Amino acid sequence: AWAAATGPREVLLANPRSFCAGVERAIEVVDRALERFGAPVYVRRQIVHNTHVVHDLERRGAIFVGEVDEVPPGSVLVFAAHGVSPAVRAEAEARGLRVVDATCPLVTKVHTEVRRHSSREATVFLIGHADHEEVEGTVGEAPADVVVVEDVAAAARVVPRDAGNVAYAMQTTLAVDEATEIADVLRSRFPELQAPKSDDICYATTNRQRAVRDIAADCDLLLVVGSPNSSNSLRLVEVAQREGVPARLVDHAADLDLHTLVGMRRIGVTAGASAPPTLVDELVGCLGGLGPLTVDEPSADPEVLRFTLPKEVS
Ligand code: F3S
Repeated sequence: AWAAATGPREVLLANPRSFCAGVERAIEVVDRALERFGAPVYVRRQIVHNTHVVHDLERRGAIFVGEVDEVPPGSVLVFAAHGVSPAVRAEAEARGLRVVDATCPLVTKVHTEVRRHSSREATVFLIGHADHEEVEGTVGEAPADVVVVEDVAAAARVVPRDAGNVAYAMQTTLAVDEATEIADVLRSRFPELQAPKSDDICYATTNRQRAVRDIAADCDLLLVVGSPNSSNSLRLVEVAQREGVPARLVDHAADLDLHTLVGMRRIGVTAGASAPPTLVDELVGCLGGLGPLTVDEPSADPEVLRFTLPKEVS
């Protein structure tokens, strides 16, 4: 495979790619908590869905746990970027933990909408993946009122309490086109359906998907740097495939299967919002090891959004 995979190549970098503001903030929260409170700092679930980020923070003294009851009373606990349900918050408080909340403000926005709808007893259709941590947390805001809608078929058959009092919300990291299709089905069935005031799918998800569509026509293959449990990275693979370009998720340059590169001269490279930029550099370096490389990147408006840190660590 090595010999067959060598040769000159073009790399086209999707722009933007890699870390979003919510992920940068979440990592900085753990960093600063380690600095301020000292190790160990406990983190509920993966701070962001990336293996390398988690291992790196573990080396520096973070301990990742599944649930609050694994954290010794009195310790510092960070909530991950995907958010938590009110039940988890209550549990942490009951256990006497010092909580630092790294929930992305754009996830918090969706929680707030769900609470608002639930307070007027609306049924909220939450478009998203039921087993994703973000969705678990959002549902937890109003378990009796939220119905997760995973696909068009579910949207076509879901039955609310009162068809005149319905709203929808979305997971932040969905494929924009698929989610729009699902919302359209709901809207056609429920004329009273209330929409989010601004998009729930976040700017970073939207921009990274658009950037993939922008380069897809010029690529023989798209490599997406990201971990297998990263929703927005998986969506980038699917977006490319829907554009007719073969695409692969790569957690690490070392995982790259050389067979997939055979005959592929124009390689698109992007990274999910939870994947560090250094991993992209490593992947491009690895491609450069297989032959002469030209690297290009279309220009795009820079993403300027930054979130302030929680007061416990600011
Ligand atoms: Fe937040 Fe979107 Fe990133 S919801 S964590 S800005 S992918």
